[in-house]
Amino acid sequence: MRQNRRKPFKERILRSSRSNKSRIILAIDVNDGGPRELTHQAIDLFEQTRHSICAVKLGRQTILRIGPERISQLLKKIHGHGFTTIIDDKLNDIDETNAAITRAYLNLGFDAITVNPFAGWKGGLETTFKLAHEHGMGLLALVYMSHPGASEGYGQQVLSNPRSRKARNEFEIFAEKAVKWKADGAVVGATRPSIIRSVKKILGTSVPIFSPGIGTQGGEIAWSLKAGTDYFIIGRSITKAQNPRKAADELAKASVILDD
Ligand code: XMP
Repeated sequence: MRQNRRKPFKERILRSSRSNKSRIILAIDVNDGGPRELTHQAIDLFEQTRHSICAVKLGRQTILRIGPERISQLLKKIHGHGFTTIIDDKLNDIDETNAAITRAYLNLGFDAITVNPFAGWKGGLETTFKLAHEHGMGLLALVYMSHPGASEGYGQQVLSNPRSRKARNEFEIFAEKAVKWKADGAVVGATRPSIIRSVKKILGTSVPIFSPGIGTQGGEIAWSLKAGTDYFIIGRSITKAQNPRKAADELAKASVILDD
């Protein structure tokens, strides 16, 4: 199972998911220790779970702790086993800055990046979408985050322009933007299955849903799968388990139960 970076990210992750019979994306968040030790921890977690996952997600904090050179080597290792890699940076700046950050992650070898639609299109994310798609990099747009306080922003009712008469749900507007901008994924927390259901109606089959928040944050695979989640981003329920291999294996089986 080799990855072809000229193929769109959406196709590559789907291929891994089908061949490994798993919709689980492993979130490797390693923070305690020096760069060398953390790299070993990350490799160990990947090696233990690689038969039960379909991709790997890293956070900015891990890049900062481990450093770019070691991260590049880690990504090569992950790619060598045919998996795509996602950087969770939730881009939310002006176009120049967003594009510079995206270019840096592309150079490190990442295959997809998370972006925040609050930044908007013109002068915000437009350049990043163009740049990323030219290089086969996927963009995952936040639509509704998984933590309780997400309701303060993503859960607001807003007037989408000054002439609007009726307030609308912010997350529905973001889901529409994910379709319009041709995002490769929409992030909706597994902690809110009813929101996943509403978002799925807007996205249809054009944009897959990526859901973090399983286990430690309270979300359950079965509920979000039924509501429309396509991929689950899971960290601590696997990485802090006594037996990460077994935990990943059980979660993988639960994640494809509707596929059989
Ligand atoms: P846990 O340990 O809770 O980790 O399984 C979840 C991982 O996903 C990240 N996370 C999010 N990323 N939107 C995102 O793009 C979210 O709503 C969200 N919630 C959690 C988190 O940083 C961790 O790596």
